[in-house]
Amino acid sequence: MPPEDERRSPPPDESPLQVIGQLAGGIAHDFNNILGVIINYARFAQGSVPPGSPAAADIEEIKRAAERGVGLVRQLMILARRESGATVVFDLNELITGLDGFLRSTIGEHITVERRLDPGLWPLAEDPARIEQVLINLAVNARDAMPAGGTLTFETGNAELGPAETAAYPGAEPGRFVRLLVSDTGVGMDSEVAARAFEPMFTTKAAGQGTGLGLATVYTIVTQVGGLVDLSSQPGRGTSVEIHLPASRSAPAVPTRPTRAAPAGRGEAVLIAEDDEAVRRVAERILETAGYRISSCPGGVEALELLDDRANGFDLLLADVVMPGMRGDDLARRAVAMRPGLHVLFMSGYSDDTPPSDLGPTAGRVAFIDKPFDAGALLERLRELLGG
Ligand SMILES: Nc1ncnc2c1ncn2[C@@H]1O[C@H](COP(=O)(O)OP(=O)(O)OP(=O)(O)O)[C@@H](O)[C@H]1O
Ligand SMILES: [Mg+2]
Repeated sequence: MPPEDERRSPPPDESPLQVIGQLAGGIAHDFNNILGVIINYARFAQGSVPPGSPAAADIEEIKRAAERGVGLVRQLMILARRESGATVVFDLNELITGLDGFLRSTIGEHITVERRLDPGLWPLAEDPARIEQVLINLAVNARDAMPAGGTLTFETGNAELGPAETAAYPGAEPGRFVRLLVSDTGVGMDSEVAARAFEPMFTTKAAGQGTGLGLATVYTIVTQVGGLVDLSSQPGRGTSVEIHLPASRSAPAVPTRPTRAAPAGRGEAVLIAEDDEAVRRVAERILETAGYRISSCPGGVEALELLDDRANGFDLLLADVVMPGMRGDDLARRAVAMRPGLHVLFMSGYSDDTPPSDLGPTAGRVAFIDKPFDAGALLERLRELLGG
């Protein structure tokens, strides 16, 4: 054993969770690229095998497993407090209603989903992706608690909380809240499990069935924005999770209805700069198939050479944020100087810094897409940037 002063122990401020977060942050970028490639090639393959064939079912399983990986990375990044999404004013009721497809495919028909949504609900100003993560984690827990069926209920309402009601919750200020109640009629929890349920990595599920991050993520997301979480559960009776999120005073933005079919390109020229070859080939394939003209290269220097050659030949730059040599945002700044009006779409991983949304007066429209992306999301974002 080494002498006392040579033994290493982690610095006292590094909780296991922070260490996990740092690890996750370090690999999330690569991991998301890998998962994105798997998911997209699975989709390509699905398009070329007969639907209903054994191969189609196998590919579906590959896709599902990879998507689970994406979810896991996202949870870890939220727990590590590294993921920062855009804040949007939105209606929680719409987020719940929009979850319909997910619920139908994930929850199963043996569970009845009920919604009691207050039509006069105050809006929220948060990152909707995070609040959706809360809903998903709670819904999946409810599903697991009702193997023989039951009812999953989403309830929303407005609530004014005074100092007495928020006192016990560090970080919460009295005021106007949107109340969300997610309840099930499942197996419930005894007091020991309930007391530990929010602990990271606490799970009663078999290995491979649960990581114990679901409720810890819910807690992190809600308390980070000054909200309150409460749990009540009875063995054999069911579980309710009650959440209060600070209401926004602004009016909700007009909801953007996602289009069903992925919008096609109209021969616009897209310059792709991405150092990961597999990710680059996925982007090329998606865009080419959709009717865009593609030039692609592994880095900023090569991209600038292409622009130098025929700057006006490009309508949009699709650039990775973190690339060796020249960063994507540096590339974009130079590119819009060479080709005024060039639109820019940044592809960014969870662990990357958010690239700037303002690239100067000569820039066209600028947007971001999270990695990993799928064809539909990429094509929609391109259409938004390129117009109608
Ligand atoms: N709705 C529920 N009904 C009964 N028990 C629950 C419910 N939600 C959570 N639990 C208990 O709390 C534990 C922790 O839940 P949590 O969501 O954090 O992790 P998990 O579901 O086990 O795994 P993960 O969500 O990471 O896949 C669960 O293992 C389960 O014992
Ligand atoms: Mg869970």
